[in-house]
Amino acid sequence: MIITIDGPSGVGKSTVSKAVAEKTGCIYLDTGAMYRAIALKTAIMGVDIQNGAELLRMLEGTSVGFRKNPDGSLSVLLDGEDVAGRIRTPAISRLSSDVATKKPVREKLVSIQREAGRMGSIVAEGRDMGTFVFPDADFKFYLTATTEERARRRWAQLRESGKEADLPEVEKELVRRDRQDSERAESPLHPSPNAVIIDTTNLLTDEVISKIISAVQG
Ligand code: DC
Repeated sequence: MIITIDGPSGVGKSTVSKAVAEKTGCIYLDTGAMYRAIALKTAIMGVDIQNGAELLRMLEGTSVGFRKNPDGSLSVLLDGEDVAGRIRTPAISRLSSDVATKKPVREKLVSIQREAGRMGSIVAEGRDMGTFVFPDADFKFYLTATTEERARRRWAQLRESGKEADLPEVEKELVRRDRQDSERAESPLHPSPNAVIIDTTNLLTDEVISKIISAVQG
């Protein structure tokens, strides 16, 4: 079984996807973490992502893999190393959206994502899971919320994890990333025509999870 959960930044996809995976006994695939891992690598190596040859060279020498955790989730490994603790910074958020516009980056990651889809039942979270990576998924969901609410959630999340954050700045970055993720040529963010759209603006996380679980379990 493949369940896809797509939507813009800050809509709460990760929390919801993780919970849905747990409740349905699926593996949780966080594809944003894969783009973030590639972004981290470009930052470490000082790669100019506008230079196609340089980017290709870096991609050829880069492995993105997974480790299955006891709780059923998959940790993303960059060149064999778990980089989870290094990819959730504002700089990597911005850079991940930049690298995600590049066709060779997407081609590499999409093939790894489809491979993960053959490992068993999965909940795949991202921007193009229902539209492009798994067009024949059993269940497709698209989460939305107003820009203000998404910025507020992202801001609260940063504060909770002990990071300094300025709400207007968080909102500005979110709008920038939304625009780039939705307007790029390769697999732009948009709902799949057969996805169930859930506006989460006025919903609690548990209500969103319940809606998805009811749809999946009929
Ligand atoms: O979900 P996230 O914020 O961790 O994703 C980081 C960036 O990666 C996001 O701005 C766009 C890109 N991304 C993508 O293009 N396609 C996906 N399936 C997942 C993420």
